[in-house]
This record gives sequence, C-alpha cells and structure tokens, in this order.
Amino acid sequence: MSRKYVISLERLNRFCTDLFKGYGVTNEDAKIFAEALVKTEARGVKSHGVVRIKNYIDRIVSGTLDVTKDITILKETPTTALIDGNNGIGIVISKKAVEIARKKAEENGIGFVSVRRSNHFGAAGIWGLELSGDDMIGICATNSEPIVSAPTGKTRALGSNPFSITAPAKKYPHVSLDISNGVMALGKIYEYKRLGKPFPEGSWLDTNGNPTTDPNINPIPEFIMRPFGMHKGFGLTVMMEILTAILAGGEFGPQVSSVYRDIDKPNPISHFFIAIRIDYFRELNDFKATMDELIDYLHELPVQSGNSKVLYPGEKGAAVSEKKLKTGIILGEDVVNELLNMATDKGMDISNSPFEIAPDDFEEITQI
Ligand SMILES: NC(=O)c1ccc[n+]([C@@H]2O[C@H](COP(=O)([O-])OP(=O)(O)OC[C@H]3O[C@@H](n4cnc5c(N)ncnc54)[C@H](O)[C@@H]3O)[C@@H](O)[C@H]2O)c1
Repeated sequence: MSRKYVISLERLNRFCTDLFKGYGVTNEDAKIFAEALVKTEARGVKSHGVVRIKNYIDRIVSGTLDVTKDITILKETPTTALIDGNNGIGIVISKKAVEIARKKAEENGIGFVSVRRSNHFGAAGIWGLELSGDDMIGICATNSEPIVSAPTGKTRALGSNPFSITAPAKKYPHVSLDISNGVMALGKIYEYKRLGKPFPEGSWLDTNGNPTTDPNINPIPEFIMRPFGMHKGFGLTVMMEILTAILAGGEFGPQVSSVYRDIDKPNPISHFFIAIRIDYFRELNDFKATMDELIDYLHELPVQSGNSKVLYPGEKGAAVSEKKLKTGIILGEDVVNELLNMATDKGMDISNSPFEIAPDDFEEITQI
C-alpha cells in the first residue's frame, strides 16, 4: 500500500510558491498560483488541487503556457471588460479578472469580465468565493476541452464547462455552488483509481462510446463523460460555452485542444466573471439575514431514513476547510513524489522535506 503524507496549509503554500518560482513564475504570480491550489485542496476538491501542478508545469516547460505574459484589457466600459489572457497562467488571469469585476461592481453595481486566451483556472468555486467576498453575488464559468457527450452521443461534444454561483450569508459560510456539467469531473478518476472504487453507473463511456464503471479501462484522458441530468447538464454546458468562449471571441468546442494530451499545443480557453453588489438591490444585512433563514430552513427539512441533515451547496467545502486548517492536508505518495521530483529538477533543496508520513489512522476527507 502506498504511503500517505501530511503537510500544513502554510508549508504547502510555501513549497508550491517556491516550486513555481523555480519554473520562472514571478514571486507575486507564484503566490497567487499556490494560494488558489492550496485553498482548493483545503476545501477537499482534491481533483483540482496540487495534483494539477504536474500538468501546469509540463505546459510551462513545453512553452505552451507563458508565465511571462500579463493580461491585456481589449475593451472596457464602467461595467464590462474584455480581457486577452495572452496565454498566461489561468489562475493568475482569473485573480486579476475577479479584481476588475469587483471594482466595477463597487463603483457601478455590477461588473462583468469576459476573458479569452487564458489557461485552466482550477476550481470554479475558488473564483465564485473571491467574487462574492462579503458583500456581492459572484458568478463565473470557464469552457474546457471537449469531454462531455451529448445525451444520446457516443463521442466528446463540448467541455464540462464548470461554473460557480456564490452568495454570502451572515452566520453561515457562503452558499457556493461549484459544479461542472458532467456526471463527474475528469480529475476525480484519479481518486477512484487510487481508492480502487468503480465509477457510479452512467457516469462514463469508454473510448468506443460504451458505458463503463471501470476506472482502469482507459488512460485517464481517454474517457468520455456523460452530461449530468442528460439534456439539462448538456444544455447548461452549451450555454456556458456561449457565455465564455463565444462571447469572448475565444476558441470553442473542438477548437480547444486537450490540456493533457496536447501538451505541445496551447489550451486557449475562455472564462467569465460577474460580481453583483447586493446593496444595489437590498440592504446587505437584511440579505444576509434572509440567507441564514434559507439555510436554517434547508437544515430543518425532513430527510429520508438513513440520511443526516440536508446540506447546502458549499457547506461541505467550508467544513472541510476549517478542519484541514487544523489537521493539515493529506497527499498520496504519488503526488508527493511528483512534487519533489519537479522541485529537484530545478535544484530546490528538498533534504528537509516538508511532507511528513501521516499516521495510518489519519482520517482522510475526500469528495467521493
Ligand atoms: N477548470 C476546469 O476545467 C474544471 C473542469 C471540471 C471540474 N472542475 C472543478 O472540479 C470540481 C468538482 O466538480 P464536480 O462537477 O465534480 O462537482 P461535484 O459533483 O463535486 O459537486 C460539487 C458541488 O456540490 C455541492 N455538494 C456536494 N455534496 C453536496 C450535498 N450532499 N448536498 C448539497 N450540496 C452538495 C458542493 O458544495 C459543490 O458546490 C469543481 O471545483 C469544478 O469547478 C474544473
């Protein structure tokens, strides 16, 4: 059995920042990059946390992700902006786009920022939370390489195009929906493989377009994802493609290359970020108090036998995050080895490794 390692959020943040700096990312951008991925880990979204660093770095090394580029604002009004990401770091571009959207909302009630020629931005919920802050509603999405089939299709049609809608409450953590439009995110296959669990029925097709529950049948990037709720998830993915790529004038559908298979090609994707100032509609405190009422109502709903209370979107992530702040983050041996290898390739001193072997009984919290 492979080992598990534990590391504090703060040490993981420092390690990842140094790692990115080793690969030519500026100090400021490396901090943004590391912080978003560690926050994602902390919320238990392991599929989009540090496990992704290898792919980001492979792209930096191959020159298909340009860490030297800053964003360009192509068009701007008091409430809107169109940004060219210039093939820079998707996470850094997103951080800047969120800041612009929030500033426009602060000044004019709403900010809508459209981005083209970006790269993989990680978990949509991280940007939903940043857009929302303490006082706004945040909405964002990205398009991505085709992976989701049409309801009756047997090939990849469009990206899983994740989106987040996030709003603050008063005594509770944010209500934050953060979902892709497939039955299951591609990155979760790693977790199923690692845990040796079959996929839930109806989540994946194999390379021939036949349903499969075996996570080992194909190499990970070859699986074809089913849309959640059939025409509903598919409809949402089509609309997210429109709100991201088509609106931004970016690449759409099959024009988007694969983030894993086409390491030697840019992966030009588009996003949008909306910030809405709540007090342009309602007194902020009243809004937040009513959010608490809504959450209390949801918590008190009767549940079917064998189930615990109803959770609201974002509740799990916030609870996991609070716990991991105290216990640290658990990483598998494969991920730790990958991180350490990338560090040694750049001559980083890892003789004093920040990753410690986790006790066997360490409780692991994952999203599946
Ligand atoms: N950048 C990309 O290209 C890309 C692509 C796909 C997915 N992703 C990210 O992957 C992550 C996982 O996506 P997913 O589609 O697998 O999401 P998921 O199926 O894990 O659903 C997550 C959402 O459901 C909520 N939730 C979970 N359990 C709940 C419960 N019992 N009751 C109420 N709400 C509950 C969570 O709070 C969260 O909002 C997301 O962060 C997404 O943004 C990114």
